[in-house]
Amino acid sequence: MVDIHCHILNGVDDGSGCLSESVEMARIACESGTRVIVATPHTNIPGSEVYPWGDVLKKRLAALNEKLKAERIPLTLCPGQEVYYHGDVVALLKRGEITTLNGSRYLLIEFNFSASLNTILDACEVLSVIGIVPVVAHPERYDSLQENEDEVYRLKKKTGCLLQLNCGSLFGAFGQSAQRAAHGMLGEGLPDFIASDAHGPYVRTPFMADAHEMVSELYSLDYAEMLFRENPDLLIRDKEIDAFN
Ligand SMILES: [Fe+2]
Repeated sequence: MVDIHCHILNGVDDGSGCLSESVEMARIACESGTRVIVATPHTNIPGSEVYPWGDVLKKRLAALNEKLKAERIPLTLCPGQEVYYHGDVVALLKRGEITTLNGSRYLLIEFNFSASLNTILDACEVLSVIGIVPVVAHPERYDSLQENEDEVYRLKKKTGCLLQLNCGSLFGAFGQSAQRAAHGMLGEGLPDFIASDAHGPYVRTPFMADAHEMVSELYSLDYAEMLFRENPDLLIRDKEIDAFN
């Protein structure tokens, strides 16, 4: 599997706190069948100490990849960020201060949980215009998208954005509303990816095998393969993904 959303880089956000935690997260991911993780530290959050794309993140990523090699953990980390959306995102992208997922056309974006549908629509449209494909992180967690599959469909259709659910949402880790929304969207075939959004080795971990199993059983093995393997693999190779497959 390929995990496109994971806070595995140490000491750069509220994810892994130190190198040993990152290594433990990598071990857990491997045990669950993950072979590639796109490291996606938070960025552009107002008032938070987060890093722009640049030397700190590049060096931290290279050092962790080296460490995994030394520890013989068969897992590769790719660069990425989870970008908190504001009107400045296009300028930051143009200045190279934020990066897409593995340098592809796909940008992982998040919003305030109370963001309106229009805010999310507008953001996705602005990015689409400049050739970026927005990947909306955990759509099931936004109030405006919960229990509203028709609007979620319209969002995808109108802007060409893609949707990434969190593993934990399937099991109720983010509350009943997010759980209901996640399964409602899956029932309609709307999500394009499922990722861990892991923040550590103890809670919100990068273990994804149980979520893969649940999707296989409740929906279909084909859909699980698409969400956990095929689409993420296309994404890291910057290939086109059919949002209505
Ligand atoms: Fe995240």
